[in-house]
Amino acid sequence: MYVNLGLIGDPLGHTLSPMLHTYFLNMTGINGGYTCYEAKSAEELPSLIDLFHKYFFVGVNVTVPYKTEIMRYCDYVDSSAERIGAVNTLCFRNNKVFGYNTDVYGFERMLADAQISVKNKKVLILGAGGAARAVAEYMRNMCPAKTIIANRSEYRAKDLVSSIGIDAEIVALESVDKISCDIVINTTSVGLQGEPFPVYAYPLEAAIDIQYKSGYTPFLSLYEKSLIKKIDGFSMLVWQAQRAFNLWTGTKPIPNISKLANIAFGDK
Ligand code: ATR
Repeated sequence: MYVNLGLIGDPLGHTLSPMLHTYFLNMTGINGGYTCYEAKSAEELPSLIDLFHKYFFVGVNVTVPYKTEIMRYCDYVDSSAERIGAVNTLCFRNNKVFGYNTDVYGFERMLADAQISVKNKKVLILGAGGAARAVAEYMRNMCPAKTIIANRSEYRAKDLVSSIGIDAEIVALESVDKISCDIVINTTSVGLQGEPFPVYAYPLEAAIDIQYKSGYTPFLSLYEKSLIKKIDGFSMLVWQAQRAFNLWTGTKPIPNISKLANIAFGDK
């Protein structure tokens, strides 16, 4: 049987998902393919869903900007994805569409790889967008000693706290240099256009960025000279993909993260 897999999003020019899923297909010996569908507007989503049914797709990833919009086309949405308000993985079963969010698992495995535990720790999350919601969902499950959320717009932080249902303190982004914490996690998109990271926190144990690039991200470069752990989001990307692949195929290929980073960047 040929396993049809795919991705919806826009833009998809730089996506690493086809490389990751082709790697998993090769590793497991499953005969299949991963096709990208760049949807120029949300109006294309229903016809894409029809196409996936017609060609017996097993699973599809969903990325920016459709992770929330796609939920209305799901027959079932996993409770964690519901709280996060975003679906990044669709499974097609019995002519029905099931929606999941695999970012929480990706985040969990990234921490495990880095041997970081949030138990009894003070965790500071920068940002309150979609990525921050997945991180907050993880904190909701793991109950660190304290979770603090710092976002540019306070209303989005409040919204996150109420929809995830997490016990967290909200502080102003500019005040993070006055807060003590063990672990700081950047979930914002700041720095992607080359601008310097605008605030500085003082974590005792680790700085984690869910962004990734070849070399240090702008956020992690703040800590270049510090002895704390510095983790970027590449392994989270790989593990969220592995979880999607697991939902689709039932297999659990164990990725070699540094080999994949080498394929992606050539120098990690
Ligand atoms: P994602 O799904 O990747 O999390 P998003 O939902 O657009 O993307 O969220 C982007 C995050 O980066 C938000 O926390 C946003 O802050 P606001 O909620 O105030 O918009 C944050 N962000 C983006 N640009 C920023 C900037 N220049 N300074 C501070 N925060 C910024």
